[in-house]
Amino acid sequence: MSLTREQRDRLVAAARAVRENAYAPASKFLVGASLLTSDDRVFVGCNVENASYGLTICAERAAICAAIAQGARKVLAVAVATDLDEPARPCGACRQVLAEFGADMQVLLVGRGAEVVVMTLAQLLPEPFTFGGAGTNNGDGVGQ
Ligand code: THU
Repeated sequence: MSLTREQRDRLVAAARAVRENAYAPASKFLVGASLLTSDDRVFVGCNVENASYGLTICAERAAICAAIAQGARKVLAVAVATDLDEPARPCGACRQVLAEFGADMQVLLVGRGAEVVVMTLAQLLPEPFTFGGAGTNNGDGVGQ
């Protein structure tokens, strides 16, 4: 499914806005993420660091938790915003967590400039772990 211009702009704006709320005293690296779910809702998350560094939560996973807690299950697209010249790619852990909720997810990568890099989650993580084994995908959030 391709996003409309309006959906894309909405996601980019939401990711950039929530990035301002990131709590990153250790890295000073602020990340914002927004999700469009199949019921046409937008959820957001930012990275939340901790004095015990390993407890840090990435923006993408924070957004997923927000969406799931509100009853969403299928994610159509995610936007990830940083302030880098070349938009950052999601970390491996976040790729796997995103893959649980959308096999065909679009990924919008947003940096400092106007350019938005558009990829699919399958490009970023071609073979996620699934309960069904190789060639299957949990990926539509149907695994209750
Ligand atoms: N971070 C994210 O929020 N998402 C990613 O995909 C990679 C990294 C955060 C974690 C940490 O707070 C900071 O960026 C530096 O690693």
